[in-house]
Amino acid sequence: MRNSPSKNGSAGGHSRTFTDSIWSPFFKSGFGISSNRSYALISLLILLIAGAFISTRLLLDTTTVLIEKEAVTTTTQTQTQTISPKYPRPTTVITQSPKPEFTLHCSANETTASCPSNKYPTTASFGEDDDTNHPPNATCPDYFRWIHEDLRPWSSTGITREALERAKKTANFRLAIIDGKIYVEKFQDAFQTRDVFTIWGFLQLLRKYPGKIPDLELMFDCVDWPVVKASEFTGANAPSPPPLFRYCGNEETLDIVFPDWSFWGWAEVNIKPWESLLKELREGNQRTKWINREPYAYWKGNPMVAETRQDLMKCNVSEEHEWNARLYVQDWIKESNEGYKQSDLASQCHHRYKIYIEGSAWSVSEKYILACDSVTLLVKPHYYDFFTRGLLPAHHYWPVREHDKCRSIKFAVDWGNSHIQKAQDIGKAASDFIQHELKMDYVYDYMYHLLTEYSKLLRFKPEIPQNAAEICSETMACPRSGNERKFMTESFVKHPAESGPCAMPPPYDPALLYGVVKRKQSTNMRILQWEMKYWSKQNQTGS
Ligand SMILES: *[C@@H]1O[C@H](CO)[C@@H](O)[C@H](O)[C@H]1NC(C)=O
Ligand SMILES: *[C@@H]1O[C@H](CO)[C@@H](O)[C@H](O)[C@H]1NC(C)=O
Ligand SMILES: *[C@@H]1O[C@H](CO)[C@@H](O)[C@H](O)[C@H]1NC(C)=O
Ligand SMILES: *[C@@H]1O[C@H](CO)[C@@H](O)[C@H](O)[C@H]1NC(C)=O
Repeated sequence: MRNSPSKNGSAGGHSRTFTDSIWSPFFKSGFGISSNRSYALISLLILLIAGAFISTRLLLDTTTVLIEKEAVTTTTQTQTQTISPKYPRPTTVITQSPKPEFTLHCSANETTASCPSNKYPTTASFGEDDDTNHPPNATCPDYFRWIHEDLRPWSSTGITREALERAKKTANFRLAIIDGKIYVEKFQDAFQTRDVFTIWGFLQLLRKYPGKIPDLELMFDCVDWPVVKASEFTGANAPSPPPLFRYCGNEETLDIVFPDWSFWGWAEVNIKPWESLLKELREGNQRTKWINREPYAYWKGNPMVAETRQDLMKCNVSEEHEWNARLYVQDWIKESNEGYKQSDLASQCHHRYKIYIEGSAWSVSEKYILACDSVTLLVKPHYYDFFTRGLLPAHHYWPVREHDKCRSIKFAVDWGNSHIQKAQDIGKAASDFIQHELKMDYVYDYMYHLLTEYSKLLRFKPEIPQNAAEICSETMACPRSGNERKFMTESFVKHPAESGPCAMPPPYDPALLYGVVKRKQSTNMRILQWEMKYWSKQNQTGS
């Protein structure tokens, strides 16, 4: 759904050969090691981690999973709304905010919009001194720990101006923050309004945390695919990698991931800013209880942007096959003409299972899919964005194999329909994650911490770029109309934060990070084993 039909160049034909890295390293890890002792140690470690994880998180019984079918009939099962103890519901609701709200100051002649001086506070209402009076909120969600990993390539060398300038090669713009003001030097147009809404996000961050964002210069690339290949920057004499911000990364690259434009709105396809959409999604979710939803896996999007999506289309229900999938093509042109009635995201939680599949790279649709209480069937992804590394298989989503999608989907849906409670728990864990750990406050806090840590690495004094213009909310929003103006007005930060950002969690120690990765792999392995068992049984009974 991320790509509209007018997306040129990057659509389709972009095939890659990837090794199936979720499965294969698990097999390789033992056999590649010659010493029996280290093999034994690693196996033991994996077993311990896997055991601890499976007993607490999965609570699934491997032997009975595929044989028993729980009756899907009783009405009592509809009462299984899980209130997560991790996220107690707020007891009081503050309806009216007494503090003054700032609004956009657009002059009558909107083509001459200028940046107002002294209109906004330049320092935060919480200072360094009174941090004790306004203690920062609790620790940030776990996925913030990846900020340390993303910046690790520069942790010992720092970032020199020379390295920064090398990132210019593919960047769409350079952004400088100097004394709380933003200056942008544009190099090349981005697709649609990606760059515009990304820069808008930076502006709003400064409004939320005035006086708190350090001076810096950074390069931003708005194109889908990560480009800074790790392999080119290893070895004693290799240069340090260019620090390049973009929306996603993968295991082979060192690009620094940053929240994508859609958090402030995607004007071209009528996707609202995240804050209000998140609320609508929460309400939309309540319209149909999980148990009353269609017991199939749903997907709607543009299959033309990637081969893997075209492959998925083969799993649609047909006269010959029932793979438990219901797949639809998103026709953005038609939807645009009809006012996007069919693409309202908040009313797309009508199936028990929703498929997430990457397009040409990561897809902004992932958060919308996870936000339904439905079980997300995640076709093995190759890219990550800033928050997806916090997701765990069998806890937040159900993994689906990419090379045998139809069988994998059929198995997942059959499993869920015969393990109703566990399936609902997975759906709920994902929507809780999205509602609580990915709320807009945390998106800003992620930006805050990433930029703060990044600025500490700079080995040069950031300056106003020569060809840059000062940009503020007025110069951006006032000349615009339609959805762009509407979404900017809506996502405009109206007053500074009253408390500091959440506290940054410490880096993973290497053993813990290894444990996290292994835990995911062993869960995936286990699910694969169930699937193989299921299919050998199905094959035997000849269905
Ligand atoms: C707005 O300002 C521009 C540039 O100064 C000028 O060309 C234009 O005529 C003005 N428009 C109106 C409606 O005053
Ligand atoms: C999948 O099947 C349904 C039901 O037959 C149909 O309405 C839909 O258009 C099909 N989707 C695709 C992508 O062919
Ligand atoms: C921090 O606390 C304030 C006030 O209690 C709240 O409005 C804000 O949403 C919190 N921030 C986060 C990131 O949870
Ligand atoms: C089941 O049969 C299909 C089709 O013949 C085959 O591709 C698949 O590998 C078999 N699966 C198992 C687990 O035997």
